[in-house]
Amino acid sequence: MNTATKATAYDLVNGSFGRCANSNGFFDSFYSILKGSHPDIANMFAETDFTKQNELLRIALELMLMFDHGSDAAKQVMERIRESHSRHQLNVPPQLYDYWLDSLMKACAKHDTEFTPEHETAWRDVLSKGINYIKSGYDDGAEEAECMAYLNFIDPDLETVARSWRFLPDSVRAEVMTKIKSAT
Ligand code: HEM
Repeated sequence: MNTATKATAYDLVNGSFGRCANSNGFFDSFYSILKGSHPDIANMFAETDFTKQNELLRIALELMLMFDHGSDAAKQVMERIRESHSRHQLNVPPQLYDYWLDSLMKACAKHDTEFTPEHETAWRDVLSKGINYIKSGYDDGAEEAECMAYLNFIDPDLETVARSWRFLPDSVRAEVMTKIKSAT
């Protein structure tokens, strides 16, 4: 997409987001549509405090727009969300992101009085980079988690050492390595 088209998409999204965020009940509508969109999703939010979650979503959407623009600061926060949504934490399977985006578009259509198909295309385009980034982190850390489980199985002390390995002073690391070498 060329720069002019990109700028137009961003302006369309910015305008639409402003109208949605200022419209009463936008975030509640989104979560209510999302929870009804797939049988697994309502359970995932069973314990959620929506006063907090609505605010987090507002911030996350702003962040996704900044991330699309290439902001380094946004990337750092996105890395954390990518991790929190992975298999080992919130466990959000990649196929659920289509329901998330479709639900968001339905909530926008309901709350943005000026919503058009061009707005929807622009939203989908601007959010795609962030969504793909979070989605593609689903299996990150799989190898590490497997390794930790194995170490814990052999000896919980080994797991503790492995977890703090990079924070240990060189002298302690050298001592541990000597012990491992002499034991094998
Ligand atoms: C790109 C899309 C998404 C963004 C930007 C996003 C953003 C967030 C953020 C910022 C949080 C707060 C916790 C944290 O900071 O990590 C959160 C929590 C959560 N998200 Fe997402 N999310 C996305 C997609 C999804 C999808 C597709 C699902 C499931 C269908 C989902 C389920 C959850 C759940 C269950 C929580 C925890 C709620 C609680 O604290 O009870 N998210 N999300």
